[in-house]
Amino acid sequence: MARKYAENGSTHAVYSSLGAQKGICTIEPENFKAVYSTHFNDWERPKYRAAAARPFMGPGIFTSDGPAWSHARAMLRPQFERQNLEANFPVLERHVEFLFQAIGEPGWDGWTRVLNLQDVFYRFSMDSSTEFLFGTSAGSQSASLQTPGAGGDLLRPTPMMNFESAFGKVAKHVSVRLKLGKWYWMWDNLEYRRACRDMYAMTDPFIASAFKNRSQDHKTSKAPTIIDALIASGASHDFIRNQCMHLIIAGLETTAALLCWTFAQLELRPDVVTTLRREIIATFGTEECPTQQFTFEKLKSCNYLQWTLLEVLRLYPALPVNARVAVRNTVLPVGGGPDGRGPIAVKKGARVALGTYLTQRDEKWWGKDAGVFMPERWEGRRKGGWEFVPFSRGPQVCVGQQYSLNQASYVVARMMQRYELFEQLVPAGLVSGGEGKGRQDNLKKGWKTVFTPRDGVRMRLKVAGCGVTNCGEG
Ligand code: HEM
Repeated sequence: MARKYAENGSTHAVYSSLGAQKGICTIEPENFKAVYSTHFNDWERPKYRAAAARPFMGPGIFTSDGPAWSHARAMLRPQFERQNLEANFPVLERHVEFLFQAIGEPGWDGWTRVLNLQDVFYRFSMDSSTEFLFGTSAGSQSASLQTPGAGGDLLRPTPMMNFESAFGKVAKHVSVRLKLGKWYWMWDNLEYRRACRDMYAMTDPFIASAFKNRSQDHKTSKAPTIIDALIASGASHDFIRNQCMHLIIAGLETTAALLCWTFAQLELRPDVVTTLRREIIATFGTEECPTQQFTFEKLKSCNYLQWTLLEVLRLYPALPVNARVAVRNTVLPVGGGPDGRGPIAVKKGARVALGTYLTQRDEKWWGKDAGVFMPERWEGRRKGGWEFVPFSRGPQVCVGQQYSLNQASYVVARMMQRYELFEQLVPAGLVSGGEGKGRQDNLKKGWKTVFTPRDGVRMRLKVAGCGVTNCGEG
């Protein structure tokens, strides 16, 4: 892809065999700004996106434009306000406890077994986001901890116990359909249709019961969920179901992928782990001797933690290429004229591909070391530049941005309190921590519904202090 831009310029048109302009490919931040913000009304999402996601998702925030989009956005935005994120910390902690259980106890030397953190983060994200949405967790972490013959609460069937399997199938099919673009209809089968039905069968009862509770004016001790809030604003059952599915598809794998890429990098960079641990322990204390409660503000004030996540989002944006279609004849500010620096005309119906991944790695904006993972580069750097758009920008900026960053910050901080080293087990004869034959590449790129490590993120983890209390030490 980088070669295509090197040969044809940072903004270039693509033509059909009959010579008509089919679309524009761009990695120019000025053009991102025009599409996402200053000329927002000249653009819409490609229609195939909504069609490819059907029947799993009906019309909703992630695939709509115009009045339908602004209505959905106005209804959902308040659910992601600060007070709701603050209220969500106990839920996060409960799921982090499950995550630690899934990682397992360390051996005599303080090291855990080797495991695939991708599975653990994926389940964490699934459980915490379903609880945030429906008030009931998918419980995939506790289900995965069940061993045959184990007794107790963990074996009790839960209303969401098939969520992981159904969502896994839905995500697999939707990602193929999205990749096929306007040819999405070629990928359809019974497994996909059944998984969609299973998803509704699991989630519809939550919506129905929230309606029932409301009509009976039944007060429960549970905190209101997004569904309760949508009902209170007059939304219908179908509208709520659709928005819930949109939030699941938009939010679940994105946060899991952010955590995966972060730990894939941390495993290679013990120096970053040391700095991160120092900051987290100075702010919140150790696990044994906590000094402060976690809050949204305090996590935000941990600069190095925030820089680390920004740096991961820079190198591994969940959506490496975004797309829009011109709804009228319009212009992009950069890409035309003899030197390619003047405006370029775009025909109504032409599609623009916005190359987030390449822009966020372009030496022009990030310097010679653009490809290097370096959280320190964010020190004093303005976040508002259009060369950094992992959550998109403008009116359709990701509605879950703060929710996701808060969730990821919390997981990283708790992991830093508990673990001090991350390491891949290297076959005998190879240097520990070095790249070599036989060592899995945790940074190999792959695709689910979002950009994610292809072969998982395998490593073992060393518990901090190995049973020795280390209050206040980094
Ligand atoms: C690392 C985490 C995340 C990343 C990188 C990310 C990225 C993005 C991007 C690039 C878009 C723009 C899509 C477009 O232009 O068509 C977007 C939109 C959106 N995201 Fe996220 N997202 C993340 C997490 C979440 C979470 C956790 C949720 C919800 C629980 C969420 C909900 C949404 C929704 C509803 C939209 C559509 C907003 C609108 O059109 O008004 N995202 N996200």
